[in-house]
Amino acid sequence: MAFATRHFVRAASSAAATAAAKKLIIKHVTVIGGGLMGAGIAQVAAASGHTVVLVDQSDEILKKSTKGIEESLKRVTKKKFADKPEAGAEFIEKTLKNLTTSTDAAAVVHSTDLVIEAIVENMEVKNELFKRLDKFAPEHTIFASNTSSLQITTMANSTTRQDRFGGLHFFNPVPMMKLVEVIKTPMTSQKTFESLMDFSKAVGKSPVSCKDTPGFIVNRLLVPYMMEAVRLFERGDASKEDIDVAMKLGAGYPMGPFELLDYVGLDTSKYIIDGWHSLEPNNPLFAPSPLLNKLVAEKKLGKKTGEGFYKYK
Ligand code: NAI
Repeated sequence: MAFATRHFVRAASSAAATAAAKKLIIKHVTVIGGGLMGAGIAQVAAASGHTVVLVDQSDEILKKSTKGIEESLKRVTKKKFADKPEAGAEFIEKTLKNLTTSTDAAAVVHSTDLVIEAIVENMEVKNELFKRLDKFAPEHTIFASNTSSLQITTMANSTTRQDRFGGLHFFNPVPMMKLVEVIKTPMTSQKTFESLMDFSKAVGKSPVSCKDTPGFIVNRLLVPYMMEAVRLFERGDASKEDIDVAMKLGAGYPMGPFELLDYVGLDTSKYIIDGWHSLEPNNPLFAPSPLLNKLVAEKKLGKKTGEGFYKYK
């Protein structure tokens, strides 16, 4: 019995070792899109010891992203190293050393282990990017999208690396939110999936897994809730302020639905609901909102533009 147990333990640990050996240890990361999400993802990856290249369309945008990361790091450090300012300063310096920027994605993916895409929520634009990068990235490189609502499978099919493609859905603000949804398409290999799970843990998050289904877990529940709040307001049943107060005090939510919509970005929310509406036009939960459409048309996109449902100046 003792021999059998020892034999079993040895066999099991050698199987685990083989599986681990097969997994890709991600060290170098390229994040495409230096907006709200991409900058946060680049920050947590660099802070956890990965070398990171953050890519966007212009140096001006990247300057803004880097400034945002520096400010966020200062906030994180104040809390994390409250009694040790020197260790805090060292942490910031080390993190920023791990981070570089570029406006040329194709030129920087040649040595990357993982490409995380966090650009505009538009399937055609994402597919075009992945198709192009597929030609320049090494064989082993895993591609992942941070999309909130688009199908990962469609994006994977724009490349020749369907088995090395998955979803890595972070939450806003990335440095604060502990969750990552790791999305496995029918073509994602177990090795890729496990590498993405490990990477999520390495950047300090708690990953959950979900199939490639609209909205994954969180947004499939959250987006219809926010749209119902807008419809309640549109009908004049309650003010947006009262709806926000009601959900915070009555349901214990940290933010009301309008505060959350402004935080997420109204354009992102509109893309999500429009996409789901085109998939299921008769589903009343996915019906578009004239008010949301109007605010987006007026470029009132929420906190990031200084105005959405509320003003931030
Ligand atoms: P954002 O608008 O703040 O940033 C997008 C950035 O991508 C911009 O800086 C833009 O210049 C850049 N960009 C656009 N096309 C590009 C290209 N071809 N190459 C390089 N850079 C390009 O958007 P946000 O909110 O960061 O969203 C990005 C992605 O993350 C979207 O897919 C969105 O669905 C997803 N997401 C958003 C969340 C949110 O709360 N805002 C939460 C989770 C996921």
